[in-house]
Amino acid sequence: MKNENPIGLFDSGVGGTTIWREVVTLMPCENTLFLADSANAPYGEKSKEEITRLSDVNTQYLLDHGAKIIVVACNTATTAAISYLRAKYKQVPFIGIEPAIKPASLNSKSKKIGVLATRSTLASDLFAKTSNQMAEEEEVQIIERVGEGLVDLIESGQINSPKMTELLRQYLLPMVAEGIDYLVLGCTHYPYLLPQIKAILPPHIEVIDSGYAVAKQTRNVLQQRDLLTKHTSQGRHTWLTSGKVEILKGFAPDFVEIRKIESRRAEVRN
Ligand code: DGL
Repeated sequence: MKNENPIGLFDSGVGGTTIWREVVTLMPCENTLFLADSANAPYGEKSKEEITRLSDVNTQYLLDHGAKIIVVACNTATTAAISYLRAKYKQVPFIGIEPAIKPASLNSKSKKIGVLATRSTLASDLFAKTSNQMAEEEEVQIIERVGEGLVDLIESGQINSPKMTELLRQYLLPMVAEGIDYLVLGCTHYPYLLPQIKAILPPHIEVIDSGYAVAKQTRNVLQQRDLLTKHTSQGRHTWLTSGKVEILKGFAPDFVEIRKIESRRAEVRN
């Protein structure tokens, strides 16, 4: 595997760009290839089998295009499919993302934390394992809420819509009333909602996500395997979408090349 091959990342849609940003900020000389499977978003309402199948197709695409590591830039795909992917594609390291309930639990003073994530993430075994462990060891109460509809609005370019504000108020205000002092954003789309979320929450509530931790972990693994780029100039960046190019463009810095790919739901090789 060549050091100059790209870091591959995928998400159900545009949310993975929040992770891509952290990765590129930390490793500006790396080449990257990011796949937004927007034609099939949201993943959060799909079955574990369906999410695994889509994640498999995305992984194959990135590997076929030379990815030296795969960052599953999606909590939903990580919790549903990362064990399957690691077992199937042993030739490449995988980095996953999970809601940051550990740091939130360790730092919470009120011992009540809120988690906003997709239905599938909150129903997953991985999430149950970490949240049960935190509830036991740190004696925290974890208040979960499915962010139903949020990803759809982001994917259709309605981040700043009245509907978004209405949904966020509906999901967040009951958590505030319960006394949370940390809100965990458990979906990679949600950091784009930070301005609205901050406007709804009282200022003492900390909002955290796992983006920076994922970027650091990616760098560590590349370093351990001697896979970091040797280049010292800015990397090349390509974003691919199975959905609408104009939507993804709205999230992209100028230096990113954007291309449309076909939605490849059906083709999974064994
Ligand atoms: N961005 C995703 C996550 O981190 C998934 C959103 C969805 O497709 O439902 O969970």
